[in-house]
Amino acid sequence: MSATLVLNRRDFMAAGASLVLAGGARAGEPGLGTLKAKAARKGVALGSMVAAKPLAEQADLRAALPGAVALLVPGDEMKWGYVQPRPGPPDFTAAESIAGFAQANGMGLRGHTALWYRNLPDWAAQALLGFDGARVMESRVRAVLGQFKGRVLEWDVVNEAVEPKDGEPDFLRASPFYRGLGPGYVASAFRIARETDPNAKLFYNDYGVEYRYRGMDERRAGVLKLLENLKRNDVPIDGLGIQSHLVARLPFDPKLFRRFLAEVAGLGLAVSITEFDVNDFGVEGDIAARDRVIADYARRFLDVALDEKAVRTVMTWGFSNRESWLNTFAPRRDGQQYRPLPFDVDLKPTPLWTAMAQAFDGAPERG
Ligand code: XIL
Repeated sequence: MSATLVLNRRDFMAAGASLVLAGGARAGEPGLGTLKAKAARKGVALGSMVAAKPLAEQADLRAALPGAVALLVPGDEMKWGYVQPRPGPPDFTAAESIAGFAQANGMGLRGHTALWYRNLPDWAAQALLGFDGARVMESRVRAVLGQFKGRVLEWDVVNEAVEPKDGEPDFLRASPFYRGLGPGYVASAFRIARETDPNAKLFYNDYGVEYRYRGMDERRAGVLKLLENLKRNDVPIDGLGIQSHLVARLPFDPKLFRRFLAEVAGLGLAVSITEFDVNDFGVEGDIAARDRVIADYARRFLDVALDEKAVRTVMTWGFSNRESWLNTFAPRRDGQQYRPLPFDVDLKPTPLWTAMAQAFDGAPERG
């Protein structure tokens, strides 16, 4: 090794290797892949949601993604209302553009989502309540899983089936699926999904299981009950997806969340963090102050999540702060853009990136 190289390496270490990588990384340069590598070292796959439009429009995003993440998931492009707003053949063009990009670049794919009470086209919501509801549900699951058969590693077969506020038995959500088909629709959907794409890992996906806050005990109980019932009845389910849209103003409870994870893992299920981002609504201050709150909150959450070895996938809901669903879903009152993701608008790592890196570094290795 030459003297220059040694010196450079010493300077590099003195500056803090991860900070240099974090600060200096550009699209296509090695630093961008550091977070993925840190996760992979512990047996965790890092992924990102991407939407078809920015993927088509942003060359630097296309250049960055293959090195930076191992998995992609479309944000909306596989949803029922997106592919089939009216009865008739579904249109998977946009979802295929993401699947094709993943495949061409050696990345894996998550599927999101076959059945969700939102983004449900009106015609389907009506049909689910009618005499033909079961067949309509079945053909939707077959259509979307069939389209991507053999290409999806993990499928969110059913999304958000629990809602304690609806007052139904077992805390199930009074969605058109539930009202039209009864509580057994979840089991049916998983059976149809397994038949359609036998090699995909099948997930139930939900939110709101990480806080000590009103209604959240019931949410955890509802999700666990649902998973227990599915397992007891030999329904083909492989895992729980925990969306992890973190809300910095809500009290994260490490103990409750850790116990919940252990209970899910105890059922023999995998756990994926499927839609990670940090919402700092109501957090005041300049960007540095906000980023500190975001990074600290994420670190506390991820340390607990990654402590559970059943967690093997971590997906962020978007790649960079250029676009986040939060800006339209619940805009900040001060008009500032959210900063919920590990890469900033210039695709450079943010303090959240560093928090995630530290959490991966501190995580136990998966066997
Ligand atoms: C969001 C999308 O990102 C937005 O583009 C859309 O307008 C609304 O849905 N939980 C989920 C995701 O499971 O499908 C949602 O995605 C975010 C909340």
